Amino acid sequence: MAAPLPDLVHQTYRSLFSEDPLLVRSPGRINLIGEHTDYNQGWVLPAAIDKQIVAAIGKRDDQLIQLHALDQGQTYSTTLHGIERSGLLWPDYVLGVVQQLIRSQYPLQGFNLVFAGDIPQGAGLSSSAALECATAFALNELFSLDISRLDMALAAQAAENDFVGVKCGLMDQFASLFGQERQLIKLDCADFSHEYIPFNHPDIQLILFDTRVKHSLASSAYNERREQCERGVALIRKHHPAVTSLRDATAEQLNRYVKPVNETVYQRCLYVVSEIQRVQDGCDDLKKNDLMSFGKRMFETHEGLRHQYEVSCHELDLLVDLMQGREAVLGARMMGGGFGGCTINMVKAGEVPDVIYAITHTYRRKTGKELQVYLARPSGGTTVLS
Ligand code: GLA
Repeated sequence: MAAPLPDLVHQTYRSLFSEDPLLVRSPGRINLIGEHTDYNQGWVLPAAIDKQIVAAIGKRDDQLIQLHALDQGQTYSTTLHGIERSGLLWPDYVLGVVQQLIRSQYPLQGFNLVFAGDIPQGAGLSSSAALECATAFALNELFSLDISRLDMALAAQAAENDFVGVKCGLMDQFASLFGQERQLIKLDCADFSHEYIPFNHPDIQLILFDTRVKHSLASSAYNERREQCERGVALIRKHHPAVTSLRDATAEQLNRYVKPVNETVYQRCLYVVSEIQRVQDGCDDLKKNDLMSFGKRMFETHEGLRHQYEVSCHELDLLVDLMQGREAVLGARMMGGGFGGCTINMVKAGEVPDVIYAITHTYRRKTGKELQVYLARPSGGTTVLS
């Protein structure tokens, strides 16, 4: 049997640098409801999962940054003051965070970092955010920087926005750093206050179906959606200066000021305004233990993402359609940015094998692709391992 991930990362670090490192883990995330609401100052409802990046880190006496990605079998070196985009992508998630910390004048030295992970890549489970958060957390520990978890999440998001170039919101980084066992995180993206909502239902299983597709327009379309939301806000703002985000907007304002100008922008914004409300209603369902009602909202979210926000794709729609109407299925929808990745599904625990069998079989027959299936459960956030 292969060595557990932390042992593998530890041993590789030792063999490369002849000393024992500090080990940290940072998880990927799921999101129950609240898609594309984070950068519109709405609420989201993510959780960290039991799949993670494990990073080993140690100080150097010089200004060098030595990085080794075990899964890719690649090494990358630079210096603290020579940070630029690597051309390899994975180093950028580390370097972007380092750059943010330097900008904020945290006292850093050179360091070595080795990492590996078991978060499926390209599946929309935020393996890149996990690497960013592992980096921020490890550097904070190593150099005793005294950065709060929220500031780490913000630095990781800024790295993704400025260095990697995806204008993401805060959800993924926040979920990785703030995850707790059996808890969902209701995050208010307007002021970053949050509340934990217990998710402890032995009779219910969360299942992820990974389409194994990632359409190439994902990051450009993501940034475009964000701009469309900002255009909608600008149109309302001419009449209501107090409206600074779609969080403040109403369907009536969209109808009056946005629809006559641009139907596409109107549809995008209407989805967001409805979804922001759905998170609130969904959280009420959970507090009342009404998972049936919550599940219906998941299907509604999917409809909105498919027809109004237009970030779904054929494979995701097929998977959700296949789940609709099954007695064992409470809810299903695409999850994350879109254009591929996973659906998230709420299924009665006793029926899980049958559902997986049926969906896997039909997906293969209809697409010629092999579905990947992961069972997910809300888990703890970023921690030191040794
Ligand atoms: C990606 C982004 C998040 C969020 C989701 C959509 O995962 O990184 O910030 O916007 O898409 O909800």
